[in-house]
Amino acid sequence: MTQRIFIHDVVARDGFQIEPAFIPTERKIEVIDLLSQTGVAKIEATSFVSPKAVPNLRDAEQVLAGIRRNPAVTYVALVPNARGAERALAAKVDEIVLVVSASETHNRANVRRSVAESFAGFREVFDVLRGSDTGVTGAIATAFGCPFEGAIAESQVLECVARYVDLGVAGVTFGDTTGVANPAQVERLARTAAKRLADLPLTLHFHNTRGMGLANILAGLQAGVVRFEGCLGGLGGCPFAPGATGNVCTEDVVHMLECMGYDTGVDLDRLLAASRRLREIVGHELPGQVVKAGRASDLHPVPAGA
Ligand code: COA
Ligand code: ZN
Repeated sequence: MTQRIFIHDVVARDGFQIEPAFIPTERKIEVIDLLSQTGVAKIEATSFVSPKAVPNLRDAEQVLAGIRRNPAVTYVALVPNARGAERALAAKVDEIVLVVSASETHNRANVRRSVAESFAGFREVFDVLRGSDTGVTGAIATAFGCPFEGAIAESQVLECVARYVDLGVAGVTFGDTTGVANPAQVERLARTAAKRLADLPLTLHFHNTRGMGLANILAGLQAGVVRFEGCLGGLGGCPFAPGATGNVCTEDVVHMLECMGYDTGVDLDRLLAASRRLREIVGHELPGQVVKAGRASDLHPVPAGA
């Protein structure tokens, strides 16, 4: 049996949060609805953060109210605090993803508190969610390095993992916020973390800032990881991390995995069509490569006289 890989698309959150222009609510809904028909397992639809911090996602409630949900897809929203959890619960998300940075400095830049304060706040989030069936995943940003502090010790990441596990999360995500991870590091950290996580799933979230994104996915696969996040078109980036650029491009990831014989459950043609529509909506070039080059298996007409 071919190995099943689970693809999560985060363009509606990681992508739209950093776009220079506000993407109108109806266009956000259109992109999410297109993604809902592609076979991706999860869609991060928005975040419930302060509208002053991230004005681009100030329409989180309207987006979640407007999308046509596919029961096969898990709809996720990023939440930094109890206030966000209340909003996410009211909007009936399937899952919230909490976010803390392994780096103290990036955590302060991103959510204006210490790592310890973030985790104290997450206890309140679990109080808010008590009695609901909303899932919770714990994301760790700057897990492979920080734009302010540089290298991040594995022990710092594993400490965050332990705190999330204590809280009772259903899974953990490692984010390479500014695309500094390398494949050797990814394989090492993923293997070490898997031991701490026991049966809890690990998801990897890479940015392609230095061209290492697909190689890092391969390294994750080699360590046994089967869940990967990407952004349609390769959009994305953290507004609170200098130099942040796009995520690994979802359709490029799916194309690579398909070429390698993995089963992603994703219809690449639909994903490529969604990417072309995204390009029209954002009105600028996207980093994704397969949408421009075509599939590796695409043939071209033989030139006359050849
Ligand atoms: N949703 C909506 N509004 C929120 C909120 C939430 N989840 N959390 C706080 N606020 C509002 C407060 O009501 C308050 O509003 P007011 O100024 O009108 O009274 C204001 O935001 C400040 O609240 P405070 O608790 O003091 O937060 P802060 O200023 O210390 O900022 C965060 C902390 C976490 C709310 C803010 O930094 C944030 O939203 N960061 C998001 C980071 C992000 O999305 N990064 C990219 C993805 S990793
Ligand atoms: Zn990201």
